[in-house]
Amino acid sequence: MENKVPHVLLLPFPAQGHINSMINLAQLLCLAGFHVTFLNTDHNHDRLLRFTDIQSRFSPWPGFRFRTISDGLPVGHPRSADRFMELVDSLRTHMKPLFREMLISNRRELDAVTFIVADGIMMFATDVADEVGIPILTFRTISACSFWSYFCIPGLAENGELPFPDGDMNGLIKGVPGMETFLRRRDLPSFLRVKELNIPSLQFIWTETQNTTRSAGLILNTFEDLESPILSQIRSHCPNIYTVGPLHALLKSKLSNNNNSSSSSSSLWKEDNTCMTWLDSKPPKSVIYVSFGSYATVTRDEMLEFWHGLVNSQKSFLWVIRPDSITGKGEEGQIPAELEEGTRKRGFLVEWAPQVEVLAHPAVAAFLTHSGWNSTVESVFAGVPMICWPFFADQQINSRFVSEVWRDGLDMKDLSCSRETVEKLVREVMEGKREELRTSSNKIAEFARQSVGVGGSSWNNLERLIEDIRSMSFPLH
Ligand code: UDX
Repeated sequence: MENKVPHVLLLPFPAQGHINSMINLAQLLCLAGFHVTFLNTDHNHDRLLRFTDIQSRFSPWPGFRFRTISDGLPVGHPRSADRFMELVDSLRTHMKPLFREMLISNRRELDAVTFIVADGIMMFATDVADEVGIPILTFRTISACSFWSYFCIPGLAENGELPFPDGDMNGLIKGVPGMETFLRRRDLPSFLRVKELNIPSLQFIWTETQNTTRSAGLILNTFEDLESPILSQIRSHCPNIYTVGPLHALLKSKLSNNNNSSSSSSSLWKEDNTCMTWLDSKPPKSVIYVSFGSYATVTRDEMLEFWHGLVNSQKSFLWVIRPDSITGKGEEGQIPAELEEGTRKRGFLVEWAPQVEVLAHPAVAAFLTHSGWNSTVESVFAGVPMICWPFFADQQINSRFVSEVWRDGLDMKDLSCSRETVEKLVREVMEGKREELRTSSNKIAEFARQSVGVGGSSWNNLERLIEDIRSMSFPLH
């Protein structure tokens, strides 16, 4: 019995943020000696192979393998935020039966899968796991605070806060226990800002969230000291929670205790490392890093406002502009000369950056972010204060927690996206409120470091997760 090795199949939702955290978990399970299958969509796996050295990252572990599966969408489909539900529908109708077939035929293999960890918005995996008889855990890659707000959808509907009523966006929301004093209508995740209850995206998020309770437990990329009051609320419904975040840092911590294998990138875009040399040339705490993650888009007008604001702030800036992130391209015109000039003097633009390294660079003073959860925990760990410009999904509530609860950043969603606002906030985060924001950021970063260090909460929760996967893989009959 002791010699049996668990074989864990990891099923991420096919998007960058989800893959990043799931791949870190995959490597942690390899380090525990488990066999691991990472199931990627064909579309994303092609990109991963094209832009990273992911194969060599996992080469020390012969028990690790990638497998691929179709997401059911045609090759040229953009898989963008505005067509999110097309992807979701395709996964449910197309991927689910393929996944089922894959698991059934895998049962006959010598090294069959003994355990599944599925993304919390891929809960069709629970139906399949139940049918095939394989234990399953849910991994939700969002914050505990956003997960809890989704969990409260029935309560919000009961007290008339959903569907989203017209009226004051600053009105306080009462239906999310633990957040009554600071959560305003405008802070609810975008999926909850709907005018009808039967909107497919709301139904989807509710069903997936509710289904979490059908699995053996919930893994979250957060840490106890960051979200403990909210975690207590969730625990009254889902008692078995493994907070193992920040995962990228826990992996680094484990690797430094283990061997010298690396935790290199899992990017779906080509990282431009020239920005690291540019950062090397800058004084400590002098640069603002700007990135809106993998899904968010800005209009061309908004981009120009951000650009003017950054240039006018007179601060150095490193800006990630993904090739597919500017909408309204048809109106493309000349870039104003003052922006070209200001960027030559103080700016650096890339299409994709090695973000974790950028945030850890001594020259970086602040992060203008879309408040995606990975970006948020990466910034928290690095102790870098944020300016938040949330785009969709969980990002609206994450930014409220940054500004009101953790107090390690400023929330821009309350303000218009004008060059004056951008300039003002950049100056505030790097000058006016610098000390106050840095003090909170450093304090939270210290808690984060403790959580991933030997004996810290995330470290211990990972150990518990590993033992639980082992015992659930081979139950004593
Ligand atoms: C979105 C959600 O907002 C997020 O909360 C959810 O869990 C997943 O879907 P996304 O837009 O991808 O995510 O943002 P985020 O969660 O921040 O993930 C982006 C990832 O890409 C981060 O790990 C970040 O380090 C990485 N990244 C981003 C880079 O490596 N380079 C870049 O230039 C930009």
